[in-house]
Parts: sequence; C-alpha cells; structure tokens
Amino acid sequence: MNAPSPAPVVSAETLSLWYGSFRALNGVSFDVTHGEIVSLIGPSGCGKSTLIRCMNRMNDAPTNRIEGKLHVSGYDVQAKGTDVLALRRDVGMVFQRPNPLPLSIRENVLFGVRLHAKHLSKAESEALLQESLEDVGLWDQVKDRLERDAETLSLEARQKLCIARLLPLKPRVLLMDEPCSALDPDGIGAVEELMDRLRGRYTQIIVTHNMQQARRVSDRCMFMLMGELVEMSPTASLFTTPRDERTARYIEGRYG
Ligand SMILES: Nc1ncnc2c1ncn2[C@@H]1O[C@H](COP(=O)(O)OP(=O)(O)OP(=O)(O)O)[C@@H](O)[C@H]1O
Ligand SMILES: [Mg+2]
Repeated sequence: MNAPSPAPVVSAETLSLWYGSFRALNGVSFDVTHGEIVSLIGPSGCGKSTLIRCMNRMNDAPTNRIEGKLHVSGYDVQAKGTDVLALRRDVGMVFQRPNPLPLSIRENVLFGVRLHAKHLSKAESEALLQESLEDVGLWDQVKDRLERDAETLSLEARQKLCIARLLPLKPRVLLMDEPCSALDPDGIGAVEELMDRLRGRYTQIIVTHNMQQARRVSDRCMFMLMGELVEMSPTASLFTTPRDERTARYIEGRYG
C-alpha cells in the first residue's frame, strides 16, 4: 500500500487578488510540499511579489480584494479569525535589500523570538543565537563581534543575518522576494549554498529574475504571466520540456 502523501504546507485554490479594479492574480491554484524549494519566475509585473505577499497577509489593505482559498502551514490565511502574528511566526519573509534592524547582530537574531516567547533563559537565547547563525553559515565570522551593529556587515552577511533572524521562531515557510538581486556573484553563491543547506527543513519559496538561479536551487518552478500561473513543474522539465508554449517562449528569452 502506498503511504499517504503529506498534507501540503502551502495550498492555493483559485486565488485572485484585485488592487482596486486591477486584477493582479487570476485564479491561481497550486500546492507546495514541506521541505521543497520552489522558484517563482515570470516577467516584471506578472504578480510574483503579490502572490508571495498573500502568504503572510502582507496584502491586507482596504482597497485590495482577495477571492479563493489559501492555506499556509495549517492556517486558513484569509479567514477573519486567523491570528496574523502566529501566521507570521510560521511564515518568515526576506526581501530584496537586506533590512536588519538598527541593532547589534545578537539583538537582530533574538528580536523576533523575544517578541513571541516571553520567557527565554540566557542559556536558551544563547543556544538559539548560535544555532541560527551556524545554520546560515555566519557564526564563525561574527562570534567575536556579536555586539557590533548589524549595519557594519557586508551586504551578503546582512542578507544571511536577515534569514538567521527568522530561524529562532522555528518557521515552516521562508518566503524570499529576489533575495540575491542586490548581491555580487560571490554573495549570490553564498546565499544559494545557504538555501541548499536549509532544504528539507524549511519550505522555501523564492522569487527570482535569474533563471540560472531557479535552475540551480529549486526542486520545482512556477511560471507566471499577467497574474496567471501558467505552469508549475519539476525544475528540469520546466526548462527542458515545458508543457506550455508561453513557458517555452519565456525561457527562450522572448518576453521582457
Ligand atoms: N499596491 C499596489 N497597488 C496597485 N497595484 C499594484 C500594487 N502592487 C503591485 N501592483 C501591480 O500589480 C501587478 C503585479 O505586481 P507585482 O509587484 O506582484 O509584480 P512582480 O511580478 O513582483 O514584478 P517585479 O518582477 O517587477 O517585482 C503590477 O502590474 C503592479 O503594478
Ligand atoms: Mg516583485
């Protein structure tokens, strides 16, 4: 007998979003399994950021309207009673520009967990600090200067710190919106290595304009066009034998 397949950690069913009268997402449906790395690709303005921002309720605004179903980490994201703070503990987000808080390296890593867990002993917070910085490959570099301002780190190290500060909350999903676009090739390589190291433990959904990056890091790829999810396939097949003509044209570089 086959083992039952695990419940998806992200599940969208005919999800649509309007900014005022403009429809930015058009009936998007997909599932993501725990531990997968999924890349979200498509031309500028196709709705990639809009889609990942839905997953931790960053599109809440009185002029936005959302229809359809979205479940993330067991939460019915759009339901009225959903605890948004708890949802965001499970679903962390990293942006294009590293945005550490104007605090020390130590305080950056522990800030979120202190907000959520009221009682944390000194030993517990030190263990979380070290574990999180080790996970992103920063510990050796910063262990002797944890009290320094995070702003003193390189761009690459700041982006790693922005990932590290999500980890003490034990998130299930990491959303990354073009996390490497401000980095040089060495920084890109380092962050891709980090994604690979976290593979399987966290679900990672990564928006990227860099198709080679999508090919290198992701298990599956989603291609969007004008608010629609055109195709979601295993990465190798999306790039070699796309199912949709529009995907084929995009990966040949025929859209802007
Ligand atoms: N807050 C907003 N209000 C109105 N329209 C918006 C808003 N945010 C985005 N849009 C529009 O929705 C569409 C999708 O935008 P989105 O930012 O999701 O695209 P994207 O695929 O992330 O693009 P890029 O690759 O340039 O980051 C675009 O036409 C954009 O202009
Ligand atoms: Mg975007």
